[in-house]
Amino acid sequence: MDIKITKTTAPRQKPDPNNIPFGTFFSDHMFLMDYAKGKGWYDPRIVPYGPLSLEPSIMALHYAQEAFEGLKAYRTADGHIQLFRPTENIARMARSCEKLCIPEVPADMYLEAIKALVEVDKDWVPSAPDTSLYIRPLVFATDPQLGVHASHTYIFCIMTCPVGSYYPEGINPVRIAIEGREVRAVRGGTGFAKCGGNYAASLHASELAGEKGFSQVLWLDGVEQRYIEEVGSMNVMFKIGGKIVTPSLASGSVLPGITRKSAVQLLTEWGYEVQERNIAIDELIAAAEDGTLEEAWGTGTAAVVSPIGEIFYHDKDYTINAGQIGPVTRKLYDTITGIQWGKTADPYGWIVPVV
Ligand code: COI
Repeated sequence: MDIKITKTTAPRQKPDPNNIPFGTFFSDHMFLMDYAKGKGWYDPRIVPYGPLSLEPSIMALHYAQEAFEGLKAYRTADGHIQLFRPTENIARMARSCEKLCIPEVPADMYLEAIKALVEVDKDWVPSAPDTSLYIRPLVFATDPQLGVHASHTYIFCIMTCPVGSYYPEGINPVRIAIEGREVRAVRGGTGFAKCGGNYAASLHASELAGEKGFSQVLWLDGVEQRYIEEVGSMNVMFKIGGKIVTPSLASGSVLPGITRKSAVQLLTEWGYEVQERNIAIDELIAAAEDGTLEEAWGTGTAAVVSPIGEIFYHDKDYTINAGQIGPVTRKLYDTITGIQWGKTADPYGWIVPVV
């Protein structure tokens, strides 16, 4: 792919590397590529990050025909820059696009675009502990018309921003409220896709939980409101009676997380029995009450592995592992972040070097 590069003449302000708010300081450049039906993807380019000129009638703004991804570039101790499992993100975006009737961005073009953009903005990849460059690919419908059907034109855009911890708590355990009224996704819907509509649907319950001092909500399934699905914008795992349990992806309403997939592989290798299955909320509460709920954590690209120290259900608080990070959560965090930052060997071929 022939990517035209136009460098900025007005470099943007970089954040304090020891205190970076998530997703607010964007790097100097972005990648853009256009699509038109009958023509395919065209005009790949890297340009200074900045506003796009769009008509207010574009379909993405009205009917949410868009999909996005989230991955990171990491700076290693010897100054190299590497990506973690980018082909998984690219494959997931293809599945999201299929559901949303968006033309797929060819995988080779996609990876080349990410690498080229990270290389152009390599000075933006931070080196302070626990920091990285968050990469946000986005594809959205641009037909300027209000009829409800799949758009004929799209923009594929990649932006990046240096980030630290996603939660202000960092690796300290978070408080979670179990959401018994509102649902995030339903079977047959878009739950498995990474698209803005799923996040829009989650905002109301999350805001209410935030007002009560909770970091995130734990979502139950949209049919019976009985089975655990996700926690906030992460997948969720529990250690109950020595076994690891995590919601199955079979319902199609849970996001197939890449950190989730990596954690399942590591835990299995470490000899744990990992069960991907339906987990009823009653089972979780019973385990919290009888003391067999040993650990709970969320997994996601932004937060990596985030311990859950307390769950709140039907006006009752349940503390997990005395509100401390547990040994399995810690080992997962250390192993995954160790591979990501090049501190631990990568026997799995998860790392893709950039520079
Ligand atoms: C991620 O973990 O990459 C996410 O997508 C979470 C969020 C910032 C949307």
